[in-house]
Amino acid sequence: MKKYLVTGGAGFIGSNFIHYMLEKYSDILIIDLDKLTYAGNLENLKDIEGDKRHIFIKGDICDRKTVSDLLMRYDPDCIINFAAESHVDRSIADPQVFVETNVSGTVNLLGCSMNAWYDPATCTWLPGKKFIQVSTDEVYGALGSDGFFTESTPLSPHSPYSASKASADLLVMAFHDTYKMPVNITRCSNNYGPYQFPEKLIPLMINNTRQKKQLPVYGDGMQVRDWLYVKDHCKAIDMVAENGKTGEVYNIGGHNERTNIFIVKTIIEQLRRRLEDEGISEALITHVADRLGHDRRYAIDPEKIRKDLGWFPETPFEEGIVLTIDWYLDNEAWMDRVTSGNYMKYYEEMYGNRL
Ligand code: NAD
Ligand code: DAU
Repeated sequence: MKKYLVTGGAGFIGSNFIHYMLEKYSDILIIDLDKLTYAGNLENLKDIEGDKRHIFIKGDICDRKTVSDLLMRYDPDCIINFAAESHVDRSIADPQVFVETNVSGTVNLLGCSMNAWYDPATCTWLPGKKFIQVSTDEVYGALGSDGFFTESTPLSPHSPYSASKASADLLVMAFHDTYKMPVNITRCSNNYGPYQFPEKLIPLMINNTRQKKQLPVYGDGMQVRDWLYVKDHCKAIDMVAENGKTGEVYNIGGHNERTNIFIVKTIIEQLRRRLEDEGISEALITHVADRLGHDRRYAIDPEKIRKDLGWFPETPFEEGIVLTIDWYLDNEAWMDRVTSGNYMKYYEEMYGNRL
């Protein structure tokens, strides 16, 4: 039986990954370590409650004892680190926790793994072990109107979020270069799909549109992101866990570049039709003050993972966005719960002055 320690498994991508893996493999054990910050939500895992192949542990990746005890108790073959502070706007408002979780948390996981898996006397690692760092295309900085990020594009992060993720990547590679730790880093473009916290563009716009609230588009809305349906990202991580070559970085992206304004207009159009409500219109779009240091364009060249591991994105955007909108409309209770309480305060602080 293959055993995984997944961190951040109650968040957006982590919970999708757990669903993906439990659907795909019957003989599997996933230990899920999550601090349950504002972004972590056990409701994302509700339908697998009671499934013995998934063990949830509430805890912090920065806590040495928690992580060491877990490694000792469950002896996982593979650690997949999704846990992070993940929202660029929050990192601009308050960077400190991004350094704590994304940098110190990652180095704690690396150190604990090393204690459990490495024999300093022989400089050898237990066979069959692997550490996967789930990183982001944002570590490469921003592109002009053409070109793509490849794995050899120099790191040039701009936001506190992307700087913290780039720092973590450098530490992961340092453990590989120094101790020959068996690692992979994945760098994916923007994900969309079920269970994404509505601080991010797509679920925020779906939530506001269904309520006919203003749709806050930063600046001119012509920034470009390379959108990938989350299940395709999960599939890529599974393939890297299975067959990724030690020490390699893999870029993951769907060759699906869209401007923000296109995304927002697509959501409006879809919801107007689905909800049969003519009050849902582009008049809801409100251009607001731009994000500080806003990266203009991201685009991934996924050729390496295609060639080496046979990965390709299966879900065309036109299909993925419909699946996504359907999911949020079918799960309005989920959306209502995550947008009550603290979310209202967050929204007011982030958008109050802008709107
Ligand atoms: P998310 O914010 O939805 O989830 C993060 C999860 O980590 C939450 O469940 C949270 O409770 C948990 N967490 C936070 N701090 C923790 C800590 N100290 N200890 C343990 N758990 C902690 O994030 P996401 O969008 O699912 O992103 C997951 C990973 O993928 C992140 O590392 C992110 O950088 C990376 N990534 C995200 C995207 C994207 O488009 N969302 C794209 C590429 C890479
Ligand atoms: O590229 C991968 C990254 O994608 C991940 O590493 C991050 O964790 C993830 O949050 C995401 O970062 P972005 O900043 O690209 O995603 P976000 O959804 O916050 O914003 C997408 C674009 O939409 C960006 O250009 C900013 C813009 N935007 C966002 C919000 C929330 C708006 O115009 N209005 C908004 O209200």
